Amino acid sequence: MTRPVLGLVASAGGGVERWLRTGLAEPLARQGWRLAVTLTPTAARWLEPEVARLEALTDLPVRWTSRLPSEPKPHPVPDAFVFAPATLNSIAKLALGIGDNQALTVLSEALGRRAPMVVLAQVGAEQSRHPAYDGHLAVLRAAGVKVVGGGPEEVLGELAGVAPFAAFDKRP
Ligand SMILES: Cc1cc2nc3c(=O)[nH]c(=O)nc-3n(C[C@H](O)[C@H](O)[C@H](O)COP(=O)(O)O)c2cc1C
Repeated sequence: MTRPVLGLVASAGGGVERWLRTGLAEPLARQGWRLAVTLTPTAARWLEPEVARLEALTDLPVRWTSRLPSEPKPHPVPDAFVFAPATLNSIAKLALGIGDNQALTVLSEALGRRAPMVVLAQVGAEQSRHPAYDGHLAVLRAAGVKVVGGGPEEVLGELAGVAPFAAFDKRP
């Protein structure tokens, strides 16, 4: 059976450099997902020492820049997405369809085709009171996105419901 591809996208929320690999990428790889990891430019700076270890979990490169028009696409189209952590900044951009980096480009495309997606919103108390924030979350939820708080363990729990392996077993 072809392994399902999971788009694992991370933005620059505090602590991502400590838990992205051990809390999410490794458990997801153990579950059988083929990981297509994409980082925002700031997350890529924070996770620079982790890139080789993330790439050891998959046959696909970790991305944070766009390809040249003459280059082939480095990632296949993922079957489902985890966006964790999602900053206030990147949640706003996703809700508005702003694809000014590779991570937001891949997420915006996924939202457009209503791909299964779990978003771990990591925003502080003051950030969450930004007047546009609730509206941005409502846009994502209306498109079928499962938005969770907490940590990577909440994401793993929700992903099982949003993108169950049974669905992939039925693919031709
Ligand atoms: C140490 C540190 C921790 C941060 N944690 C968060 C966070 O948890 N949530 C958030 O929305 N922004 C956080 N920020 C601010 C974002 O990193 C900043 O807005 C950045 O521009 C987001 O870029 P990105 O969304 O493209 O990754 C943090 C910044 C620093 C320096």
